[in-house]
Amino acid sequence: MGEGCKDKGKKELIGRGFRTYLRIFTYAKPYWFRITIALFMAQLVAATDGALAWLVKPMMDKIFVEKNLEMLKLIPLAIVGLYVVRGLGRYIQNYFMRYANLRMVMDLRTDLFKKIQGMSLAFHKSRSTGELISRVMSDVSVVRSANVDVIKNLIRQIFTIMALLVVLFKRDWELALMGCLTVPFAGVLIDRLGRKIKEITKASQEKRADLSALMVDSFSGVRIVKAFNMEEQETKRFRKQLHRLYALSMKKVKAAELVSPLIEFLGSLGAAAIIYVGGMRVISGRLTPGDFFSFMAALMMMYGPIRKLTKVNNTIQAAIAASERVFEVLDMEPDIRDAPDAVEVKGFRESILFDHVWFAYPDDPDTWILKDINLEVEKGEILALVGESGAGKTTLVDLVPRFYDPTQGAVYLDGIDLRKIKQASLRALIGMVTQDVILFNDTILNNILYGRPKATFEEVVEAARVAHAHEFILQLPHGYETVVGERGVRLSGGQKQRLAIARAVLKNPPILILDEATSALDTQSERMVQDAMDRLMVGRTVLVIAHRLSTIQKAHRIAVLDKGRIVEMGTHRELIDKGGLYSHLYKLQFSGEEPLEPVLLGG
Ligand SMILES: Nc1ncnc2c1ncn2[C@@H]1O[C@H](COP(=O)(O)OP(=O)(O)OP(=O)(O)O)[C@@H](O)[C@H]1O
Ligand SMILES: [Mg+2]
Repeated sequence: MGEGCKDKGKKELIGRGFRTYLRIFTYAKPYWFRITIALFMAQLVAATDGALAWLVKPMMDKIFVEKNLEMLKLIPLAIVGLYVVRGLGRYIQNYFMRYANLRMVMDLRTDLFKKIQGMSLAFHKSRSTGELISRVMSDVSVVRSANVDVIKNLIRQIFTIMALLVVLFKRDWELALMGCLTVPFAGVLIDRLGRKIKEITKASQEKRADLSALMVDSFSGVRIVKAFNMEEQETKRFRKQLHRLYALSMKKVKAAELVSPLIEFLGSLGAAAIIYVGGMRVISGRLTPGDFFSFMAALMMMYGPIRKLTKVNNTIQAAIAASERVFEVLDMEPDIRDAPDAVEVKGFRESILFDHVWFAYPDDPDTWILKDINLEVEKGEILALVGESGAGKTTLVDLVPRFYDPTQGAVYLDGIDLRKIKQASLRALIGMVTQDVILFNDTILNNILYGRPKATFEEVVEAARVAHAHEFILQLPHGYETVVGERGVRLSGGQKQRLAIARAVLKNPPILILDEATSALDTQSERMVQDAMDRLMVGRTVLVIAHRLSTIQKAHRIAVLDKGRIVEMGTHRELIDKGGLYSHLYKLQFSGEEPLEPVLLGG
C-alpha cells in the first residue's frame, strides 16, 4: 500500500474517475422529488442575485441622477422583498438537499456494510478491520461533504453566475466579453490544482485506513500490548502514521489554498481593465453611471460564486478518489455465493462426506493446507480431529458450513454438493463453538438469543442451565440483562465458553462443530465446560477438534491430521495400539489428566 499508486495516463483516468463519482448519484433516485424542489429553489436564489444587481441601475439613474421620489420608496422595498425570497429559498434548498444527502449516505453505508458482511471469511481474513471501517465511515464522509458542496455550490453558483452574466451582457456586452478573457486562464489553473488534490486525497484516504487498522489492532490487542510493555512503541507507531497523514494534508493545503489567491489575482486584472475601459465610456457618455455601477455590482457579486466554484473542483477531485474506494468495495463479487439453482435443505439425514478435498487459501494458492481429504461422518457420530498446531484442523471443519469452498474435490451433505445448497439453510443445521468466543456488545440474553432470535426467555434460561451458565448469570449485577463488553471482557474464559455453549444449545442444530480452546481452564471451570459440552453433544453429529482427553475418549472415531493429510483413523484404542503419530501426540498432550498444551498468549 502507500503512495505507490500515482495515477499516470491521467486523461483517461479522470474521465473514469468522474463517472465513478457520478455513480453516487444513483443513490439520489429515491429522493428525486425533494432534490427537484431544492434545485428549483437554487434557481430562485440565483434569480434574486441577478435582480439585485439589476436594481443598481434604476437606483443610480432614477434616485441619484433623476431624484425620482417614487423610486426612492419602491427600490428599498424591492430590496427587502428580494432578500426575504432569497433567504426562504436558501433555507428550503439547504433543508431538502441535506435531507437527500444524509439519506443517500445512510443508504450507501448500509449497502457497504451489507456487502462487506456478505464477503467470505477468506476476504475478511485478508483485510484489516480498520481498513474496512474506514471505507464505510471516512471515505463515505468525503463523498458526503462533496455532495453538499457540489449541490449547494456547483448548482447554485452556476445559476447565480448565469443570472449575473445576463445582467453583465445586458448592461454592456463588450465589457462583459473583456471580463470573460480571464476565464480560460482560470480554468487551466483550477484543473491543474484539482488533479493534484485528487492524488493527495487518494493517498491520504489510504493513510486514514492504515491508521484505523492500527488503532483496531492496538486497542483490541491491548492485553498483549501491555504484556509486552509496548504502549510507548505503539504510540510511536501511531504518531508516525499520523505524521504521514499530516504531511499529506499539508501538501493538500498548499495546493488547495493556492486556488483562491491566484483566481483573485486574475480577477483583479480583469476588474482593472473593466474599470479603465468602462470609466472612459461613462466619461464619453456611452454608458450611464447606473449602467456602469450595475455592471460593477454584478461583477463583484460574481466573485463569491466563482471563488466557491473553484473550490468545488477540489472537493470533486477528493470525492472521486474516495468514491473509487467506496465502489471498489461495492463492486466486489462475493466469492462464496448461492448458486442460482441452490436447494434448501430441511434437515440432516445421513452423512457429511469429504471427497478428495484439496484446499489452499486464496491468498496463498501454492500451499496446500488440506491434501486429498476423504472422510465420511455418519449421522450421530462423534468424530474427533487431532493433529499438531497448523495441521489444518480448523481449516477442515470450516469447509462444512462452507466458509470456504474446496479448491479441488467436494464436500457433500446427504449426497448434495455444498455448493448446491442455500448457505442459510446449510448453516441453520450447524452449531459452532470456536476457540475464541465472540460475544457481542449486548446483554447476556441477546448474546444467547443469537443462537435462535425467536426463542422465548424460558428457552434461553433452559439453554443456560444445560450449559452450566445459569448460576453465574444470576450472580451478575443485572442477571440476563447484564451487558457484556466487547469480546466479553468482563467474563472469564470459562464463562464465555459456557455462554457460547448455551447459544449452541438454544440453536439446537443436528450438526455440531467444536473447536476446543487450547488454553487450559482451572479444574473447576474445566469440569463445568466439559460437562456442558457433553450435554451439548448428546444426539448430534459432532466434528470436534479435540484438545481434551475426555473428549477424545468419547469420540467414536479419531482422525489424525498431519500437514493437511489424514494419516491415521480409528478408535482411541486402535490408534494407541498402532503406535503411530496418534500415540506419539497422545503421550505428548494427553498423558496427564490435564492437557499439557502451552498457554499461548492471544491463543
Ligand atoms: N487465512 C489464511 N490464509 C493463508 N493461510 C492460512 C490462513 N488461515 C490459516 N492458514 C494456514 O493454514 C494452516 C492450517 O491452519 P489451521 O488453522 O487449519 O490449523 P489448526 O490445525 O487448526 O491449528 P491449531 O491447532 O493451532 O488451531 C496453517 O499453516 C496456517 O498458517
Ligand atoms: Mg485451529
